[in-house]
Amino acid sequence: MERVLIIGESGAIGGAVAAHLRGQGCEVTGLSRSADGLDVTDGASVAAALEGLGPFDLVLVATGALEIGEAGPEKALRDIDGTAMAAQFALNAIGPALVLRHAADLLPREGRSVFAVLTARVGSIGDNRLGGWYSYRAAKAAANQIVHGAAIELGRSHKQAICVALHPGTVQSDLTAKYLGRHPAVPPAEAAENLLNVIGNLRSVDSGGFFDWRGERVEW
Ligand SMILES: NC(=O)c1ccc[n+]([C@@H]2O[C@H](COP(=O)([O-])OP(=O)(O)OC[C@H]3O[C@@H](n4cnc5c(N)ncnc54)[C@H](OP(=O)(O)O)[C@@H]3O)[C@@H](O)[C@H]2O)c1
Repeated sequence: MERVLIIGESGAIGGAVAAHLRGQGCEVTGLSRSADGLDVTDGASVAAALEGLGPFDLVLVATGALEIGEAGPEKALRDIDGTAMAAQFALNAIGPALVLRHAADLLPREGRSVFAVLTARVGSIGDNRLGGWYSYRAAKAAANQIVHGAAIELGRSHKQAICVALHPGTVQSDLTAKYLGRHPAVPPAEAAENLLNVIGNLRSVDSGGFFDWRGERVEW
């Protein structure tokens, strides 16, 4: 991984991945809302930020939120609010899609490259045994579908490009701070190492898949 683009470097996981790769001497371009004004929910903002960038061996989309504004994850169906749900989709599903829209220009035509989107195991429909968290779960499931489709399309022009959705594990960050309870969580630096191990071991046949921080497939 020589040339890397991190979307969401200001986040805990995005920042840790960027720091780890810089430490290894990689050429890392980091973009974020707070530092660069990049709003992944706005197609024009994404296009302007990505203009002329690339090619990259790795593109990581590490943006996202569990709580947007005052709206946290729903405990029950009666908590569903259309505006809050739309905001979840805008950030967690449409955001990665608007970056993927530029994937063909961001990745090299020849040679191995990886486009990874951080989704979440709670976006797995098959793994959902608890209910709740309707908007976040559904937005992450939608992102998984978008990544899967993008991998098929990209594979036609970029034969060695690998496009995946990744679950980073439960990680200590602003996103999880209020929701961890007694649930164990790893520091961002450890999550970054785990994710980079998985990314490093991905093969062409893995493109379109959904993997966790151990490199194991997560059911859809
Ligand atoms: N932490 C976990 O345990 C966990 C578990 C499963 C999945 N994930 C996923 O992993 C990803 C990263 O999580 P994290 O824990 O690192 O979260 P985090 O520390 O809260 O970082 C979130 C990042 O998203 C960015 N962001 C939010 N809204 C944005 C927008 N409209 N446009 C552009 N950037 C925006 C933030 O940018 P600014 O701060 O610059 O505004 C920040 O860089 C998320 O997709 C999350 O769902 C995390």
